[in-house]
Amino acid sequence: MTKTIHVLNGPNLNLLGSREPETYGTQTLADIEAKLAAICKTHGVALQFRQSNHEGELVTWIQEAGKAGDPIIINAGAYSHTSIALIDAIKGTNAKVIEVHLSNIHARESYRHHSFISGAARGIIMGLGALGYELALTAIFADMAKSES
Ligand code: DQA
Repeated sequence: MTKTIHVLNGPNLNLLGSREPETYGTQTLADIEAKLAAICKTHGVALQFRQSNHEGELVTWIQEAGKAGDPIIINAGAYSHTSIALIDAIKGTNAKVIEVHLSNIHARESYRHHSFISGAARGIIMGLGALGYELALTAIFADMAKSES
């Protein structure tokens, strides 16, 4: 049974709230964490919510969650478009990943259209702002209910 849900956020997501609000909205990362923590509490599941501007730190966190068999919600920010190391960590530990982006990366600059994460993700949610994180949680809880029944 899943004990912890990991939400991993990549570079510049610590700036949410003031960073290009027309693209990313006005909620801060702390707002998003508080919302997800409240939802996880009602389900009796622990939340590990983290952000890093460093690729290697994200690799370590993916490995940790993957080895524990815990589900991951990841918004890898710009590393989604560049990082083979992140995808190797996901594949190398069989991590169960849902990819989230606040913005619709396909409606933006062409260099954002490809995500390395997508090929190994169980699902992808984008363009719905902070709601995307909540929808990803809903998917994980649905999986957990299925595996417990
Ligand atoms: C993002 C989209 C990426 O292209 C960008 O580099 C980000 C945020 C999103 O949530 O929409 O940092 O992942």
